[in-house]
Amino acid sequence: MSDGTGVDLEARLAEATTFDPPESFVEQANVSEPGIYEEFEENWPECWERAADLLDWDEPYDTVLDDSDAPFYEWFSGGSLNAAYNCIDRHVEAGRKNHAAIKWVGKRRETLTYTYQDLYREVNEFAVALRSLGVGEDDVVTLYMPMVPELPIAMLACARIGAPHSVVFAGFSADALATGMERAESEYLVTADGYYRRGNAFNLKSKADNALLDLDRGVSDVVVVDRLGDELSHYLGEDQHDYTTLIDGRAGETVEPVSRDAEDMLFLMYTSGTTGEPKGMKHTTGGYLAHVAWTSYAALDLKPTDTHWCSADIGWITGHSYSVYGPLALGTTTMMYEGTPDYPDRDRIWEIVDTHAVDVFYTAPTAIRAFMKWGERYPNDHDLSSLRLLGTVGEPINPRAWKWYYKHIGNGDCPVVDTWWQTETGGMMVTTLPGVNTMKPGVAGPPLPGVNVEVVDRDGEAVAAGEAGYLTVRKPWPGMFRTLYGDDERYIEEFWREFSDDADRSVYFAGDGATVDEDGYVTVLGRIDDVINVSGRRIGTMKIESAIVGVEGVAEAAVVATDADAAGDARVYAYVSTESGRGVDDALRDRIVDRVGDRIAPFARPETVVFAPELPKTRSGKIMRRLLEDIANGDDLGDTSALRNPETVGEIESAVGDR
Ligand code: WTA
Repeated sequence: MSDGTGVDLEARLAEATTFDPPESFVEQANVSEPGIYEEFEENWPECWERAADLLDWDEPYDTVLDDSDAPFYEWFSGGSLNAAYNCIDRHVEAGRKNHAAIKWVGKRRETLTYTYQDLYREVNEFAVALRSLGVGEDDVVTLYMPMVPELPIAMLACARIGAPHSVVFAGFSADALATGMERAESEYLVTADGYYRRGNAFNLKSKADNALLDLDRGVSDVVVVDRLGDELSHYLGEDQHDYTTLIDGRAGETVEPVSRDAEDMLFLMYTSGTTGEPKGMKHTTGGYLAHVAWTSYAALDLKPTDTHWCSADIGWITGHSYSVYGPLALGTTTMMYEGTPDYPDRDRIWEIVDTHAVDVFYTAPTAIRAFMKWGERYPNDHDLSSLRLLGTVGEPINPRAWKWYYKHIGNGDCPVVDTWWQTETGGMMVTTLPGVNTMKPGVAGPPLPGVNVEVVDRDGEAVAAGEAGYLTVRKPWPGMFRTLYGDDERYIEEFWREFSDDADRSVYFAGDGATVDEDGYVTVLGRIDDVINVSGRRIGTMKIESAIVGVEGVAEAAVVATDADAAGDARVYAYVSTESGRGVDDALRDRIVDRVGDRIAPFARPETVVFAPELPKTRSGKIMRRLLEDIANGDDLGDTSALRNPETVGEIESAVGDR
């Protein structure tokens, strides 16, 4: 394959460890001044006004950052604004009412387009309807909905009337929904009768009804979107309303957007984690919206003329920030897709990119590795030349997957931004700026301008280049969560205690391990609990996995350690899935072990390599390491219901038995 300049793209990809953004990209980039880093640093925290300036404020703020009660920081104090106004009305007022705001693709290839005017109408009607049910300012409305347009519409309707939303991912259980509602003291629920997944109809309403039975304080009103029509009849109980009937009764009615304090809550998001109590992350109106608008502008390079597709479910923070609030604040067209990437066929994503001429595509490394495993013939069947920028988020991306994405999806023409951030941070924190920085596959990049990240050892001292340590953030940022809802103490304990002293509680501990190189680029190794102890040395499982997936024929790898033996040593287990069609033999096993020895160190070599057709994943696409540890230790597996692919467990257990 040649890239037209006579240079062999294949050869360049194999050898290169750095990539510069194409000139044609830099020329049109929203941000292309290298001086921006210095400028932000010299002018901190006022530099963040550049983010706030992307928004329309009802009242201008008087203080950029109030740090008098750290770590309960306040951003843009004194200012007021409405998030829905910023995401809708101002674009209509600017003459863009006929521009597409949301393009929704259903599982049957049906497409719905909501222009900004359409969105204005329906958000207003639903906002009026919510008010008529008694929802007032600051009442938390829970949204338990699949990927239907009514989900962002409901979020924006809540924002319009100053009612914080709390979205619970539709894949979660009735239990999770009930817990979320209890903790948020939420008396209103918007849900749907069900949704389609791989061509089958799933009942959501019955799960929601079960959750409601568990609520001590009961629920005031429930609104139900009828997604499945005749395919699934549902029963509306007392105080349960049909969405369409509600808004039809309010046709053409509008409600003034409620002016909210910058620090007023925009939404709550409960994260469950694999252990522990759910945490309600509180995000605010001004700081959050400024942060996601700015990062959509600077890192995703979004323009109002773009069609942007963030493939995450809106039930996760990624969907909140980069499907809904960021792109709509900038007046962009945002894509929503109801289905799965491999149904009806494995080219579904590329067919949508092709049909809708998507400009910017943002997805997770798990998805990229699946695409890689399925093979390049699926993207090759489609015209992907509309793409200008690619992004990844959610877990470390190994260089091989990065290069595959760069080559087969981006054709070597699109910068790839590997963005590190968290539900807690609200928006992106570490990534290259695509119009400024050189990219290094597998390395997220420098912290964004104005973001201060340091990788430290146990004592809080910065580690030397290349050494693994703990990822900390040493200065606040506008998109940060403000507390754990109803639990200020835990907010401090869990995130601010570890590396801050009592006098200065300003160091945020992200819970991730990382390294930083001579250029200040950060490589995120994964959650700290993914760091294992072998031969007395601590090593991120990601490092070993990254070496393994570099072996020809390997698609994905997960490394865990067994419990330490009496001598304090653990054994390394590697679970490996291969690219489709690739057979498994001892030679492959040897190559994997040797490569880890070569690339990292002999002590890190996996003692056991288990081949499995697929690795067990949570519904958000994270490999369930705890489960793989249990298998390695021969322990009881406990609850596997959180898995997206529970059938893999039996296959892996039998592979462990066979080896
Ligand atoms: C991981 C998703 C490596 C990390 C936005 C973080 C990443 C957790 C990256 C947050 C990345 C996210 N490289 N690891 N680019 N992005 N992570 O809250 O462990 O669902 O702490 O937010 O995902 O996951 P969350």
